[in-house]
Amino acid sequence: MERIIVKKSGPLKGSVKIDGAKNSALPIIAASLLGTEPITLEEVPNLKDVQIILKVLQELGAKVEFLDDTTVRIDSSSIDKYEASYELMSKMRASFLVMGPLLTRFGKTRTSLPGGCAIGSRPIDLHLKGFKALEAELNVDDYVIEATAENGLVGKTIYLDFPSVGATQNIMMAATMAQGETVIENPAKEPEIVDLANFLNKLGADVKGAGTSTIRIRGVEKLGGTIHQIIPDRIEATTFMVASAITGGDITIKNCITSHILPVIAKLREMGCKVVENEDDTIRVYCDKKLCGTYIKTLPYPGFPTDAQAQFMALMSVVDGQSKVEETVFENRFMHVEELTKMGAIIATDGSEARIAGVPQLKGAKVRATDLRAGAALVLAGLTTEEETTVSDIYHIDRGYNDIVGKLKALGADIRREEMD
Ligand code: EPU
Repeated sequence: MERIIVKKSGPLKGSVKIDGAKNSALPIIAASLLGTEPITLEEVPNLKDVQIILKVLQELGAKVEFLDDTTVRIDSSSIDKYEASYELMSKMRASFLVMGPLLTRFGKTRTSLPGGCAIGSRPIDLHLKGFKALEAELNVDDYVIEATAENGLVGKTIYLDFPSVGATQNIMMAATMAQGETVIENPAKEPEIVDLANFLNKLGADVKGAGTSTIRIRGVEKLGGTIHQIIPDRIEATTFMVASAITGGDITIKNCITSHILPVIAKLREMGCKVVENEDDTIRVYCDKKLCGTYIKTLPYPGFPTDAQAQFMALMSVVDGQSKVEETVFENRFMHVEELTKMGAIIATDGSEARIAGVPQLKGAKVRATDLRAGAALVLAGLTTEEETTVSDIYHIDRGYNDIVGKLKALGADIRREEMD
């Protein structure tokens, strides 16, 4: 087991290149199960979660080959299994995204139910509602879920009560080879949904309206192969923007689509940061004065992303004045509050709200990454502490950040990884 040790650094300066988006790569790799010709994916981030979903594909019979560090060739032409093992499914919730592709390709699938996790119970009712609407028969017990559609899925109109990212993706993938037209109303509009739709269309699918309030998918007989580049990770970009803000730094973030992070840019500006959007997919974040508190409310895209909430809370802990955070996407995404409090942050929570009173200085402490973004937030907070901050359980961080330590170090951070005693 390793830990990250970090202390007051900065101002961080320089430039950092953002990797491909984890949350785009995972569904697109799952969707590669639909292709009957080879698929090449570029800008695939080298992350634990990506390794897990690639293993799921291999276990199902797909051939997976890395052509270089970030380019993966997937050949699903000869897959013959439609059951994903409990062992891999239980390691990561996103493995459940293989269900839609398997169901539409084989007319049946059997997978384990994904469990709850640190950030909430995370049900899958909307995924199942979608499959059922497409005329799949479902058999669900405590651990296993079986879906069958012996004569193939049939397109329908499905209204999502909440614009769930995973449910939109799973239904979209299942609908690619259903008979007739599927309409998803109130779908998620995240950039990762648009990236998946673009990828599916390159395979030969007919998906229209991704990124809007209605997605229409006309089923086709068969999907082929393609070459596709994964979009940049807007949450990794956000994390480095906050790293600049929290250290009073001056960082240029490369490979970043600014239109994907408008609420983050707006909130950093409200807090007093200078954010310069350049035309070459780079963004410069620098601060020439003490920052002040603000209010954020997490929402489905294009609202403020829940995946950036913890990092902003770390920043709010050290700026002038009061801040407020409202988390509306997940029911329990304040696990980082207890850890930030150990570092001297003043945060009071009440249900889905947190009030933060900025302090002049956090102190070094031994803290635990309770989930991926919480872990990133603690590393960011650690960039401000005179004494060392030790972050344990960093396997959570490795799930979503490729070499965060190396990248921060290159910007001047006093940070290292080491084995725990
Ligand atoms: N929900 C339901 N029923 C469902 C599905 C979701 O009630 O059938 C609820 C969830 O319980 C949650 C809310 O809807 O309260 C949002 O869940 P959603 O399905 O949108 O999220 P997800 O697909 O499970 C993806 C990302 C998350 C990100 C969320 C929200 C991937 C692999 N994961 O999860 O990323 O927080 O969308 O944007 O794409 C992360 O990267 O740290 C992360 C957690």
